[in-house]
Amino acid sequence: MIRILVVGSGGREHALLWALRHCPEAGELYIAPGNGGTDSLAQTVPLAADDLAGLTDFACREAIDLVVVGPEVPLALGLVDRLQQEGVAAFGPVAAAAQLEGSKVFSKQFMVENGIPTAAHRAFDAYEAAWEYAQTQPLPLVVKATGLAAGKGVIICQTHDEARAALDSIMRARDFGAAGDEVVIEEFLSGQEVSVLAFCDGTVAVPMVLAQDHKAAYDGDRGPNTGGMGAYAPAPLLDDAQLGFVRQRVLQPVLDGMAARGTPYKGVLYAGLMLGEQDIHVLEFNCRFGDPETQVILPLLETSLVQVMQACLNGTLAQLPIVWKDASAVCVVLAAGGYPGSYRKGVLITGLAEAEALSEVTVFHAGTRREDDQVVTAGGRVLGVTAVADDLASAQQLAYRAAGMIRWQDMRYRHDIAAKGLAREV
Ligand code: AMP
Ligand code: GLY
Repeated sequence: MIRILVVGSGGREHALLWALRHCPEAGELYIAPGNGGTDSLAQTVPLAADDLAGLTDFACREAIDLVVVGPEVPLALGLVDRLQQEGVAAFGPVAAAAQLEGSKVFSKQFMVENGIPTAAHRAFDAYEAAWEYAQTQPLPLVVKATGLAAGKGVIICQTHDEARAALDSIMRARDFGAAGDEVVIEEFLSGQEVSVLAFCDGTVAVPMVLAQDHKAAYDGDRGPNTGGMGAYAPAPLLDDAQLGFVRQRVLQPVLDGMAARGTPYKGVLYAGLMLGEQDIHVLEFNCRFGDPETQVILPLLETSLVQVMQACLNGTLAQLPIVWKDASAVCVVLAAGGYPGSYRKGVLITGLAEAEALSEVTVFHAGTRREDDQVVTAGGRVLGVTAVADDLASAQQLAYRAAGMIRWQDMRYRHDIAAKGLAREV
């Protein structure tokens, strides 16, 4: 039985804990810092996800056998490196490999060097040179702050004035802090966005079932961009030839390129792709599981997640058959009114027990907090109501039935999660 610490506090981390709890190898589970839903699965450790020293001390003191790092910030800061130095096994890439997400300048350069298809770009560390270049580029164009900016550092500019405003915001006003030390200016790509997540063991990458996120706040993909308002899996987005292309031209070159640099990529690689009429390009890499994609991927994983993670760390992924359930999962995110703008916190949530009493329904907590015996809101994305069923239509129906049982003042959600998947199935 192994002792596991999960780092993070979102719906992704609740789903990770839930999947780990179902593994026969899992003994004591810990979560740092967790949320209002995680304490039923694990002991809460009151340490922030970016408290590298505190987390490393805790892991050593409590003889943790496996640390699973959820979010990108501790990965980019080098939590896995520190744990490894202390002899603690940790799932996730080392800092040098996590730069694929942590630095867009690095990531673009890496893609060019390794022949991975991506939008044409230039990188700049000086405002004047960036602005001079931007004016010569066709519209629309895309301006990106190089560093981590919680999904807000990418600005699509329809005019050159907008490009100047974007550069002002990133490089002069420093709206994203040090993330704006450099910018990437790149060509705009159109098409359908698809994400492929893969387990990686330093040598090989094994794609997970495909999941589709819904980034826009409102039905019909309208409204501002969010962290993700819901997801479904499996998503019928890539055919075999396209998936073969992604394996050969995107995933494997990342593994080969990172190994050649002496920083083998272990953990989850998340490739954000743009599927054009003719071709596939990489928009970005993330160095971790997606949120909410994880909430629909892990409930479909039949193989023990502990075994998969250990195979990633031991370099034995090629020998482990990874089995997925022949079923579908839908996750509807319940958000606070106003999200992704400003919203209230501390509002009482009711109906959780009723929703969870439905068979094949799991409510993953994201922005919640426990107050005495009650659960209150504590974030923008509050809950992820996930249902598993034999087919996508039934999973969608069940997820919305459960979502309808949960209430708080100002609760809001999208009503069309998985509709795109259903439209393609017919
Ligand atoms: P990134 O963090 O680089 O994935 O960017 C966030 C989002 O911005 C993506 O999910 C896309 O919707 C959009 N985006 C980024 N780069 C481009 C591009 N070159 N062309 C069109 N849209 C883009
Ligand atoms: N769902 C998008 C992400 O995790 O980055």
